[in-house]
Amino acid sequence: MTDQVTPEASVPGAPEAKPTSASRTTLSHIMTGSDTNLLGTVHGGVIMKLVDDAAGAVAGRHSGGPAVTASMDEMVFLEPVRVGDLVHVKAQVNWTGRSSMEVGVRVMAERWNESTPATQVGSAYLVFAAVDADGKPRPVPPVVPETERDKRRYQEAQIRRTHRLARRRAIKELREKRAAEGFED
Ligand SMILES: CC(C)(COP(=O)(O)OP(=O)(O)OC[C@H]1O[C@@H](n2cnc3c(N)ncnc32)[C@H](O)[C@@H]1OP(=O)(O)O)[C@@H](O)C(=O)NCCC(=O)NCCS
Repeated sequence: MTDQVTPEASVPGAPEAKPTSASRTTLSHIMTGSDTNLLGTVHGGVIMKLVDDAAGAVAGRHSGGPAVTASMDEMVFLEPVRVGDLVHVKAQVNWTGRSSMEVGVRVMAERWNESTPATQVGSAYLVFAAVDADGKPRPVPPVVPETERDKRRYQEAQIRRTHRLARRRAIKELREKRAAEGFED
């Protein structure tokens, strides 16, 4: 099979490449009564905060400095999380561009009242941009996927990147066309 995992590794002026494992992180948290919604299960926004926190830690580690959330997409909730559950939020850099990184996050829950293995309860993909002291994008080290799973995730991230860019471009073009035709929002 053709190796699709090197194009961004040659971005001119990029810092030295880093392997995926150098920044992979797990953030663990026990859910409490203050995390619940009206149904008594954990509020999705609480999980999203943990996802953003874990992904931000990974992006900061990988890029060696501040990184801001540019987008969060495909946040999926597979199972409810309950008070007392021990939640593990696992994050890694899936892909790097010039100044942006896609971070993949998997959310696992250990049920407080069951001795079963942790269940996957959610996942998300976030794009972070590394920024300098003025908040301007700065180059990031290319990520080097190590395992076959890392390589698959890198390739899937490239597909998502292509779709994000195409969608943004298409919407921008539509808005410009409507404005040129005199439509007002
Ligand atoms: C993200 C941000 C730094 C981008 O700045 P910008 O001037 O638009 O810079 P660029 O267009 O060069 O984008 C920088 C990189 O981010 C990517 N990017 C920007 N917006 C994006 C979006 N909405 N989705 C995915 N990627 C995005 C670009 O593709 C580019 O990637 P590349 O360098 O790897 O090719 C800027 O929009 C920002 O500061 N946003 C606020 C972030 C923040 O405060 N987050 C916390 C919310 S409270």
